[in-house]
Amino acid sequence: MNRIKLAIASDHGGFILKNNLYKNLLIKGYDIVDFGTNSSESCDYPVYAKKVCEAILNEDVHYGILVCGTGIGMQMCANRFKGIRAACVSDTYSAKMSRLHNNSNILTLGARVVGEGLAYDIVNVWLNTNYEGGRHEKRIKMLDE
Ligand code: RB5
Repeated sequence: MNRIKLAIASDHGGFILKNNLYKNLLIKGYDIVDFGTNSSESCDYPVYAKKVCEAILNEDVHYGILVCGTGIGMQMCANRFKGIRAACVSDTYSAKMSRLHNNSNILTLGARVVGEGLAYDIVNVWLNTNYEGGRHEKRIKMLDE
C-alpha cells in the first residue's frame, strides 16, 4: 500500500458528519472507502466499527475514521480489536498527540460534540502527523501483550 488508504463509517448519530467528511476527503484526493451507515435510521455502532477495524487488520486500508454521536461507543468497540489503537478526539492537540505518541490508527469523532469545521481540522491534523516511534514503540507493543 503506497497511497494512503482510508476507511470511514458511522452510525445514525454520525451519519451526516461522516458523509461530509467522506466527500471532503475524496475531493482532497484520498483513497477512501465508505462502510456506511447509509441513512439516518437508528443502527448499532459496533457493526460499523467492526467493518473498519477488519479493513485495517486485513491491511486493506491504513487508517480509519469512525463517527457516532459522542465518538465514545466507536472508540470502545474499536479498541477491543488487537492491533487497533482508536482515539476519541475533540481537539487538534489530542489529534496530533494520538498520532505522534500513540500511533493511533483510528480516529473517532462525536458528531454531537464537535462542529463540522473543527472535525475537518481534527481530521486534517490527524492525517498529517506521523508517529514518532522511538521511546513510544515499547509502550505501543505493551498494549497488545
Ligand atoms: C446513538 O444515539 C448514540 O448512542 C451513539 O451514536 C454513540 O454516541 C454511542 O457512543
